[in-house]
Order: sequence, then structure tokens, then C-alpha cells
Amino acid sequence: MSSTQEEQQKQDGRHQEVGHKSLLQSDALYQYVLETSVYPREPEPLKELRELTAKHPWNVMTTSADEGQFLSMLLKLINAKNTMEIGVYTGYSLLATALAIPEDGKILAMDINRTNYELGLPVIQKAGVAHKIDFREGPALPVLDQMIEDSTYYGKFDFIFVDADKDNYLNYHKRLIELVKVGGIIGYDNTLWNGSVVAPPDAPLRKYIRFYRDFVLELNKALAVDPRIEICQLPVGDGITLCRRIS
Ligand SMILES: C[S@@+](CC[C@H](N)C(=O)[O-])C[C@H]1O[C@@H](n2cnc3c(N)ncnc32)[C@H](O)[C@@H]1O
Repeated sequence: MSSTQEEQQKQDGRHQEVGHKSLLQSDALYQYVLETSVYPREPEPLKELRELTAKHPWNVMTTSADEGQFLSMLLKLINAKNTMEIGVYTGYSLLATALAIPEDGKILAMDINRTNYELGLPVIQKAGVAHKIDFREGPALPVLDQMIEDSTYYGKFDFIFVDADKDNYLNYHKRLIELVKVGGIIGYDNTLWNGSVVAPPDAPLRKYIRFYRDFVLELNKALAVDPRIEICQLPVGDGITLCRRIS
């Protein structure tokens, strides 16, 4: 047996040991999930925003409908009221959040691009949830720094969704861990980064995937050993890591 075959056998064995199962083995299975459980229950405003976003040239950035449904369920399960979102684009996850939190709930939403937010804004307004959103145009990090300086924001957030510049995720984490309440949740999106986290170093990857991969790997390593949180890595969308603050 060649060393490659031996290595493969070791890998296969390891999967069996830990009971590894990949649920979404095909595009057809994903389509089945969307058509059976997600689209029939997708609120009308989210459907409208999804269809509008599909016509935008950067639509690859949008949160998928199944992830939107997951976020909505999670927010309701934890009774989230005071939330934050870093990375809005046209607002799919923002609208999913706004629809899931109570009437007096709040979302501090940040993005460097207001134009894309304004594309989705009429749909958010029509849905009657725009009053929950405090949109700040500009990079998120300085806003977080201001909140860190002003200690009244410590432990104020029930839920924080991070879906923006991956090279800053660890910088965000350093600050967000102070701003989320103990028992609250930070969700980091794209933590499987198009599957590239397990790609060999010489694998042919798109330029932006290759560029951010090391930052995602660093984040995953850091979260895995951070004693201040419990974590759960979910293969929803492009991978989302939930971090529950415990201290
Ligand atoms: C993947 S998209 C967000 C998708 C969004 N959550 C949705 O549901 O459609 C990433 C967004 O992060 C924004 N962004 C990039 N760098 C940023 C920064 N430093 N601070 C805030 N937003 C940033 C981009 O403008 C882009 O709209």
C-alpha cells in the first residue's frame, strides 16, 4: 500500500471514529431543503428582498434564505432584543433580524456602503421594521472602539452577527466579547470559507478566497481555544460559528 493510500485509510478511519456525516451531499439536496422547508415559509418581505438582491452584480454576498431562517429561529429562541450586525449589503440578514426581534428591539447595523443598504431599504420600510434599525455608514471597527471607551455598552448586546471584512474578525472578536452579554451570542459568518479551510496550499482558489483564507483559519483556531466562550460550528450557508459568552 502506498503512503498516500495509507494516509487516505487513516483519514477514512478518523471520519468513522467521530461519526462524521455530511448532510448536504449535493446541490439537489440543498435545493430540496430550500424548496421544502425554507421558501414556503419565507416571509414575503424577505422573498422580495432576495429577488431584488439576485439582480445585483454582487449578489454572491447575500445571506442565503436557509441561513436567514436559521438566524430568525435563533433570535427567537434566545429572545434577542438588542442586536448588532457588521456587514449589511442589501439587508437580507438585517431584515430577517428586524422581523424576528420584538417591536421595541434594536439593531445597530454597520456597513461601509450605504448605497446597497438603500437598495433594500424600501422593502424594510414596507415591512414596518425600519424603526428598529440604527444604520451607521463606515468601517465598523472605530464604532466598536468608541463603544469600548464608553463602558455603558459593556454586555449590552444579546446577539451580534459578523458578516464583513474577514481580515478584521479577530479584531472584532477582541471588542465584541466585551459588548455581548454573558449568555449572549456572537455569530461569525463564512467560517468554512467556501470549503477552502481544508484545501491544500497549492489548490486553485479564487483570488479573494485565497486572500482571506488564512484569516478565517486564524479565527477558527482562536475561537476553538477561547475559554470565554462556548462554540458551535454549523455548516449552514458558508459556515457559521456561534459563540456563546460564558465569562
Ligand atoms: C457579505 S456582505 C454582508 C451580507 C449581508 N449580511 C446580507 O445578509 O446580505 C459584507 C458586507 O460587509 C461590508 N464591509 C466590508 N468591510 C467593512 C467594514 N470594515 N465595516 C463594515 N462593513 C464592511 C461590505 O460593504 C459588504 O456589504
